[in-house]
Amino acid sequence: MVRVQKGTGLNGMKNRIIETALIEEESKTEVSLRPQKLSEYIGQEKAKESLTIYMEAAKERNDALDHVLFYGPPGLGKTTLAGIIANEMGVHLKITSGPAIEKPGEMAAILNNLQAGDVLFIDEIHRLNRQVEEVLYPAMEDFAIDIMIGKGPTARSVRLTLPEFTLVGATTRAGLLSAPLRDRFGVIHHLEFYTVDELKVIILHSARILGVEIDETGAVELAKRSRGTPRLANRILKRVRDYAQVRYNGIITKEVADQVLDLLGVDKMGLDQIDRNILNTIILKFRGGPVGLETLAASIGEDSGTLEDVYEPYLLKNGFLNRTPKGRMATEDAYHHLGIEIPG
Ligand SMILES: Nc1ncnc2c1ncn2[C@@H]1O[C@H](COP(=O)(O)OP(=O)(O)OP(=O)(O)O)[C@@H](O)[C@H]1O
Ligand SMILES: [Mg+2]
Repeated sequence: MVRVQKGTGLNGMKNRIIETALIEEESKTEVSLRPQKLSEYIGQEKAKESLTIYMEAAKERNDALDHVLFYGPPGLGKTTLAGIIANEMGVHLKITSGPAIEKPGEMAAILNNLQAGDVLFIDEIHRLNRQVEEVLYPAMEDFAIDIMIGKGPTARSVRLTLPEFTLVGATTRAGLLSAPLRDRFGVIHHLEFYTVDELKVIILHSARILGVEIDETGAVELAKRSRGTPRLANRILKRVRDYAQVRYNGIITKEVADQVLDLLGVDKMGLDQIDRNILNTIILKFRGGPVGLETLAASIGEDSGTLEDVYEPYLLKNGFLNRTPKGRMATEDAYHHLGIEIPG
């Protein structure tokens, strides 16, 4: 099956080859491609180095690791790191997510079932509701939860101690995290986009696991077009493999990668139609900007949160877009990339 771009909006986004969210059919292979140890985890050197030290220190003291928060665009390896932490610490990993926990009691039950040292991973932690979040405050700080027993005037609060555990939170939207929650994390890491070299290593490694034949030039080309994101690198590798198998002689070279990615609408810089649509809109509809986030989002039929967290970071990083106090502006590079003449 080939995923092609079908216009903009949420439906279009679901079929986007460079959609960064996890697609269900991928979850099986994702497990096998996911590094299990810190030494197999490519890139994110800063995060890796400090985690190595904190984990070693905690192990030596026989303590649980301090609470860790990872933030950054989708598909950069937050969930993977949570798994690695649990693995390296030799503890259980319990996975849940912000929207999955609706009531304070559910959170209390999850916490109460943890064993000493365990890692509790909460994905999309910015989506926890306020009451649920409040259960976490004493849990993170004092390893305790306060529960109310009884009702009305006879109700009293009882404090329940928990084993020491490590909360690993992940969010694509650090700005939406409440200050009291953010402050309770001892370690906070922003995950960065990967370099072409790092992605190349990841692609070659995944190719070996999947039994895909790819040469150096093919790997570099795929790496360049993966938007700095390992999840996309793996997805694009699989799509191109299918083409290589059916149309070519099975080996992914630069030529094969080029042709297939052109067909899929992913350009040399890894931008797809939505990315180009964003830049085109700023340039053609708003004369290059500045245009406010909400206005821009409405013009391309996306919600502003998705625009800000999923699409913009890569455009910003590559210098196609500027954020100014007055709004978003297309850069000269954006004009060049789209082949539009810069107005005098
Ligand atoms: N550093 C890395 N080295 C090798 N492969 C990686 C690395 N980081 C991520 N991957 C690959 O990318 C996939 C996606 O990573 P992961 O699920 O951890 O991203 P995420 O940041 O949790 O994304 P989301 O925000 O959507 O939850 C993993 O299954 C793994 O195959
Ligand atoms: Mg994840």
